[in-house]
Order: sequence, then structure tokens, then C-alpha cells
Amino acid sequence: MIKKVKIAPSVLSADFSKMGEEIKRVEEAGADVIHLDVMDGVFVPNITFGIKMVKDIRKVTNLIFDCHLMIVNPEKYIGEFAKAGADYIAIHYEACKENTENVLNQIKALGVKCGLVINPDTPFESIENLIYLCDMVTVMSVFPGFGGQKFISSVLDKCREIRKVIDQNGYDCELEIDGGISDKNSREAVEAGCSILVAGSAIFGAEDAKRAIEDIRRGE
Ligand code: DX5
Ligand code: ZN
Repeated sequence: MIKKVKIAPSVLSADFSKMGEEIKRVEEAGADVIHLDVMDGVFVPNITFGIKMVKDIRKVTNLIFDCHLMIVNPEKYIGEFAKAGADYIAIHYEACKENTENVLNQIKALGVKCGLVINPDTPFESIENLIYLCDMVTVMSVFPGFGGQKFISSVLDKCREIRKVIDQNGYDCELEIDGGISDKNSREAVEAGCSILVAGSAIFGAEDAKRAIEDIRRGE
């Protein structure tokens, strides 16, 4: 059962020249979580920011930091992200493959919540047996790399399957959806079992962030 749906603005669509202010702005607008997209130019064809950004913005807010690592060999950096103030460290199944279980355990051992992210074309079955370990599972509803892409609605079936496993087993695990979320699809995402909705362009691209967050929370 979902207690309360959380809205997680992705700072990928924020103005990087004033990141602190942008985070304060969405915090005041009602954000529950700050979603931080870390990209290495190898796992995805784009580069964003890393540990120093997380450490510096940790000073401006107490909101939950959800660090979405779109990087190869994430195990090399999880210790530093934990030290920098990450609350969740989320790794991609596609970046870790048979090492995924190990890396999730390493994140937990750091005292940080662990998240497991899957791309739109990765089937539920690949991670089914790992859900028990996760504090969060993230279903990508776009191929990672860029903000502002179109929502792939076929991933909602996968959300329903994951939600079923979480509820049937009583796991304390969030189900997050990331990519192309707006007030046009937030309701179906919640109905498919998602408890955290990431939105970048729909929030940072809006004139009124508070209104954008309320609209996403409410759905159409
Ligand atoms: C995509 C990122 C997403 C993205 C979401 O690689 O993981 O978090 O920033 O942005 P929108 O909401 O614009 O699709
Ligand atoms: Zn993301």
C-alpha cells in the first residue's frame, strides 16, 4: 500500500548556474525528494555532475537526496556519494548485471538506502529476485540520458508486476518512476503502483513550480 505519493523534481532541468536557489524554489513549492541525475558520458551519452555537487547542495536543504547513478562501475563511487549526503543511492541493473546484488549490499553497508533502476527494455524478470533487497526500485519510463523525452507508457505493466511483489511480501520498498512524467500521466503511474514520481521538465520548465507539483500530485 502506498501511504503518500512523493514528488521528486529532477534537477537535470534546473538552471545549473544557480542550483542552490533552484532547489530551495522546488522545496518551497512542495517537493518531497530531490532527484539527482549523475551521468558519466559512458553508461549514457551525456555528462552532468558528481560528488561535489551533492556535497555542496546538501547545505541548502534537508530534503531526501535520491542519487540516480547513470554510471559504469558505480561501486567505485558509492562511498563518496554516501559521504556527500545521499539518502538513496540508485544503481542501474544494466551497469552492474551479475554484480548487482553485491553493489546493493555495499550501499546498504554504508548506511544508505539502496535503489535499483531498470531501463524501459529490461524485463521485470531480470530483477524480480532482487526486489527483497531494495529500499527503492525505479522504473525508467524513458531511455536515460536526457530530460524532456516522451513517456513510454508500456512500462506501466512492469510497475504493476513490481508493486505486486512488494505488496505480497510486505517489503518496505518505494516504487519510483522516472522520465516524461507530467500531470497527463501521473495518475496512471500511481494507479500502476508508483509511490515516487520523478519530474524534471514538467516542474523546472513550468512558470509556477508549486502549481506544477500540485497538478502532478493530483493527476488529470
Ligand atoms: C533521464 C533522467 C530523468 C530525467 C527526467 O535520464 O534520469 O531523471 O531528468 O526528466 P523529465 O521529467 O524531463 O523526463
Ligand atoms: Zn533520473
